[in-house]
Formats: sequence, structure tokens, C-alpha cells
Amino acid sequence: TVLILDFGSQYSHLITRRCREHNVYAELMPCTTLIKDVHFKPKGIILSGSPYSVYDDVSPHVDPAIFELGIPILGICYGLQEIAWNLGGEVTKCDHREYGSANITIAKHGNGSADALFAGFEDEMKVWMSHGDQLSKPPPDFHVIGYTGTAPYAALAHNSKPWYGIQFHPEVTHSPNGKAVIGRFILDICGCKQNWTMEEFIGKEIARIREICGPTGRVIGAVSGGVDSTVAAKLMHEAIGDRFHAIMVDNGVLRLNEAKQVNEMLNKDLGVNLTVVDASDLFLQRLEGIEDPEQKRKIIGNTFINVFEEEATKIEKAAEDEEKLGAAPKGRVEWLLQGTLYPDVIESISFKGPSATIKTHHNVGGLLKDMKLKLIEPLRELFKDEVRTLGRLLSIPAQLVGRHPFPGPGLAIRILGPVNREQVKILQLADTIYIEEIRKAGLYDQIAQAFAVLLPVKAVGVMGDQRTYEQVIALRAVQSEDFMTADWFAFPPEILRRISSRITNEVAGINRVTYDISSKPPATVEWL
Ligand code: XMP
Repeated sequence: TVLILDFGSQYSHLITRRCREHNVYAELMPCTTLIKDVHFKPKGIILSGSPYSVYDDVSPHVDPAIFELGIPILGICYGLQEIAWNLGGEVTKCDHREYGSANITIAKHGNGSADALFAGFEDEMKVWMSHGDQLSKPPPDFHVIGYTGTAPYAALAHNSKPWYGIQFHPEVTHSPNGKAVIGRFILDICGCKQNWTMEEFIGKEIARIREICGPTGRVIGAVSGGVDSTVAAKLMHEAIGDRFHAIMVDNGVLRLNEAKQVNEMLNKDLGVNLTVVDASDLFLQRLEGIEDPEQKRKIIGNTFINVFEEEATKIEKAAEDEEKLGAAPKGRVEWLLQGTLYPDVIESISFKGPSATIKTHHNVGGLLKDMKLKLIEPLRELFKDEVRTLGRLLSIPAQLVGRHPFPGPGLAIRILGPVNREQVKILQLADTIYIEEIRKAGLYDQIAQAFAVLLPVKAVGVMGDQRTYEQVIALRAVQSEDFMTADWFAFPPEILRRISSRITNEVAGINRVTYDISSKPPATVEWL
């Protein structure tokens, strides 16, 4: 395992990614972590970049004990400056922040060979820089292994110890050899084994789940039809079979036939022990007349907890009743499955600055309090694309594994006016046509998220000799890496024409279709 100490750079999680792309397991921890508190024995340490300057009063500093471990250390950007700050080098502020592409020249040893960190690369390579400070004097016993026109100490190595510092960011894709540089460090210099594979992960995770659940403990978890909850559920099923109970709550604002399809796939095809609860009446009744999006979210969230809790209690009770009738004891429901992913974990553990309090994520408050359930999070080490790979290995159908995200409050935040069965039906039909046509055109995988929105306005139209006065559908499709920013997707016009024609012809109540050409920011992906 490689330990990545995070000083708050926006790129820190990418270092973790790049290590894993080399099939080496890496874990990110806040830079203030004390070495004695690290629960594993790292084979190497990487210090990330940071928005801080090493000389600021509030700047974070690393536990000096890292220099006593005798293992390789690589400092990236601030990480390099942090090494210099600790070991007697000098860092100065640049007049202006250097940001963008630069060419680094690799300094050769006397015998003409490059340093191990840069072994086998061209003499000059393109790298990405983003820093306000830079080294003005290397610490004693370090030598230069790379320089640029503006940074004479762009890359350093210790004369005898496996300690390195680089000013550029190898973790971003704008440094074309960056991944290879990280590979040189973790594979050649740290000697890490490339044994982090998804197959390996499945085996280990199943063993871990079996161990923590014991021979009788049972687990409940909600499934939504999305990738994460499906993969998590299937993994639990592989580990403990029917001692895992999946619950799907039909909240009345799911996509067309969603509950039925999830039931068929999870229960029939994948063999997961699933109960579908149709609570659509309760949800729609509580949503009646509500237009405010935050109120819609709150009602759906709270109602979900009520329904889920009630169902979980029923499962527990049924087991007790069977036991009373002489059946073998089934064990208590002790655990709650959560599909937490690594980005959520990073969000809660990464270094946020000296005064920031660490956030606790995924608060399922009531549920945990009343049922005294412990959390089980089998995906918490994985990134989204790793979850997809895992899904494929667990034989989850490709269509589901590549599915666009769908928000918890469902169609309720895509119906801009009040939510009722009639409005839900209109939106479901329009959305189904839209997604069907996108799939037919082979564009689904190029789009991060596509959906229809039902507007609460009426517009005039004409059908035959009749004047119509009906609602408007807005179509949204975005491309995005992380949904923090997004751009609208440029459909070929004939696709939009076909979608519009089908929706206005096939969906009663709609006579007009518009396409949303707003980026995020200033718009958001969802309309509410
Ligand atoms: P926005 O609209 O904030 O959406 O640009 C970014 C991503 O988050 C999803 N989203 C939600 N997901 N509950 C969810 O589970 C919500 O309340 C919610 N609101 C937005 C949205 O679908 C997009 O993928």
C-alpha cells in the first residue's frame, strides 16, 4: 500500500487513482495524520500539492516521523516544498502563479543515465505546473534531476535516500508521462506489488463481509436500481446469501416500470433476496400540492426512512415468529448496507484546512438510532468506474452497469409544478421515449446524464383543426466528468427532431418540446 498524505490539493484524489491504475493499492489520509496512527505499513509515501504556502502560519505540516521510516517519499508541488521546508531547503514566492504546461529537461547523471524516477523517458517532457511558490535552494544532500526554463529545481532526488520531489503534477492527464512517473516511483522505487485487481478485491471483500457479519448476523439495505446499490447488493448476496435483505421502496416517482424491472433483475436474474414495497400512495399523498424543491426532497427523504424502517422491522419480526414456531434461529438484523463510494470517503477525510471540521457523511440518522444498526460499506474503497468494473465481474447486465445517475427524489424534482400521478405518468412516458431514442442512436454512453423535465406551463398548439393548450417538456443531456461542472450535449438535429416528434405524438398532454442549452454553472444539471 502507498500512503498519500493530502495537503488539500484539488488533485489529491487523482494521485490515488493513478496508483490504482498501476494495480497498486493507495490510501489517502490527511497530511496531519501521525505515522503512529496509520493502520498499515506503507511501502512508500506521496505528499500531495496544496493551496497553502509552506511559510504561512496556518500551513499544514507533515509528521517529521515520515523521514525516519526508511521508505521512499515523493513530494509533489507543495509536497516538494514541504520536504525542503523540513530538511533545510528554501522556498520563495513566485511573482506570479505559474499555471499550465511546461517542458521539463531531465538532468542526466555523470554516466549519462537518468534518475530512476525518470528512467526511460525522453530528455524533455511536457508537464503540468500549478504553483505559487517554488524552490530557491535545495536542501542539503539533494541533487537536481529535472529543470525547466523558470524552475531550476523542478525535480530533486536525495543523494543516498529514496526521497524525491517534483514541482509538476504527474497525477493530471495534462502531464502525458505523469502516470508513468508515478509508476516509476511506486513500482521501481517503492517496489510495490501490482496486486490490486478487482478479482482480488471481490475475494477479499467477500471474506471481510463474512467475517464481520459472523455466522448468523443479517444485513438490510436499500436498492434503487442504480449502479452502486445494485453492485453493493449483489456483493452482499455473494458473501452471505439470503442473510442479506434488499428493500426497494417504490416512492411513486421512479422511472416507468422501474420497480418491476429492478425486481426482475435483482430477484430473478441475480438471486438477491429482495422485497419491493409499493409506498407510492403514501409518498404522493405527502407530496400533494408541494412545489418547493427542498420541501419535496425533505418529504421524500423522511418518508423513505419511515417506510424502510417499517419494512426492516417486519423482516426482524417475521424471523422472530418463525423462531417461536420452532424454526432454526435466524440471527438479528445487525447491519445496514450503504453504497458509499471512495469520493464520499475522501470528501470526509481529506484535509480541509486548519480550522475545518471533518464532516461525517451519509447521515441515516433515525434508522441507525432506533434499530441500532451498524454500517457496512463494501464499496467505500472504490471509485465509480471501479464499481462498474466490479459490476461487470459480478455479472450485472451491461445496460445497468453503464446507467446514468438518477436522483433520490426521482421525478419529483423533474416535475416543476405539483406532483401527482397524472404528471408523473406524462413525464415517465416522455422520459422513456427520450432515453429509448438516445440508446437507438448509440449516444447513451457519450452522455453523462439525460432526462426529461415537465414544465408547469401550458402553451398553444394545433392538432388537426383543433387548437390545443398543453404542457411543455424540456429535454436535458449533459456531458460531465464529476457533475460539478457540465456542458450541454450537442445532439445531431435529426435525433432531436425524432424525439420531439415522438413525444408530441405519443404523449397525451404535451404539444411542445424544448432542448436545454445551459451549462453548469450557471445552471445546474437538474432543474430543481
Ligand atoms: P445538480 O442539479 O446539483 O446535479 O447540478 C448534480 C448531480 O446530482 C444529482 N442530484 C441529486 N441526487 N438527490 C440525489 O440523489 C438529490 O436531491 C439530487 N439533486 C441533484 C443530479 O441528478 C446530478 O447527477
